[in-house]
Amino acid sequence: MTNNNSHGTTLVVGGTGKTGRRVAERLQARDLPVRIGSRSGAPPFDWEDRSTWAPALQGTAAAYVSYFPDLAVPGAPEAIAAFAEQALEAGTQRLVLLSGRGEGEAQRAEQALADSGADWTIVRCSWFNQNFSESYLLEPVVAGEVALPAGDVPDPFVDADDIADVAVAALTQEGHSGRLYELTGPRLLTFGDAVGEIARAAGREIRFVPVTIEQYAAALAEHDVPDDVVALITYLFTEVLDGRNAGLADGVEQALGRKPRDFADYARRTAAAGVWAAE
Ligand SMILES: NC(=O)c1ccc[n+]([C@@H]2O[C@H](COP(=O)([O-])OP(=O)(O)OC[C@H]3O[C@@H](n4cnc5c(N)ncnc54)[C@H](OP(=O)(O)O)[C@@H]3O)[C@@H](O)[C@H]2O)c1
Repeated sequence: MTNNNSHGTTLVVGGTGKTGRRVAERLQARDLPVRIGSRSGAPPFDWEDRSTWAPALQGTAAAYVSYFPDLAVPGAPEAIAAFAEQALEAGTQRLVLLSGRGEGEAQRAEQALADSGADWTIVRCSWFNQNFSESYLLEPVVAGEVALPAGDVPDPFVDADDIADVAVAALTQEGHSGRLYELTGPRLLTFGDAVGEIARAAGREIRFVPVTIEQYAAALAEHDVPDDVVALITYLFTEVLDGRNAGLADGVEQALGRKPRDFADYARRTAAAGVWAAE
């Protein structure tokens, strides 16, 4: 496939986050111009302040769009529709949206993008491996005990490096427009399995403790996690982890012609980097 976006700047919304940082690094490694879209970007981009969108979009040919905090929150479809409209007005034709599997609000946001008239690609993902190393599960893993309201329902955790590879292909190559790629890893694991693999890779004891959703919400609140974040996390653990996503999908292979990375590779790499060492 040929590069089509080599002359335009790509706005990477969420460009300092788990997926956006990787997308930006890959584009920069190819000497493609990148603008980071985040509150700390120049110019700053804030989902909460629509007046920041046009300056961030100005002069860009494409955008990687990761919404914050989550496409599952009410209002996300309207925000994506409005963002796509502003993007098209600015001449930013190619839009690649990061989405989540099994989330009603996210699927409405996908539809809003598909209806926008943009040259769109949707990257619809299962739970990220990197939640255990670059997000809210890092602290409990390092502390040696991960207590979650997740029992025996397995999920096909996907690697953020695969997400970034697919997004960059969609941003830079022909052939991905109008495509919805459903990305999962190659294996179903329960959260207990995942924590077990991390413990083995890190060479230390890390326990997985199943708790009820009420116990979990109370523990988050005790740690001063804001109410809206508690609501989002408990929603994700109840709705999204009810078995609806307990199946593999072949989006990585469709987009890239190769298999997705395995959780065990992620665990090995991350442990070797010392991220999970006991404090
Ligand atoms: N985690 C999962 O397992 C999972 C699974 C499927 C889909 N998703 C989707 O992934 C998306 C999040 O992507 P991610 O995990 O790559 O990002 P992330 O690691 O959560 O990072 C958040 C990014 O958004 C920026 N940000 C925070 N508040 C912002 C605001 N008000 N306006 C603009 N930017 C803001 C942050 O930069 P600044 O702080 O500099 O602004 C940062 O770049 C969500 O939409 C979620 O639905 C996640």
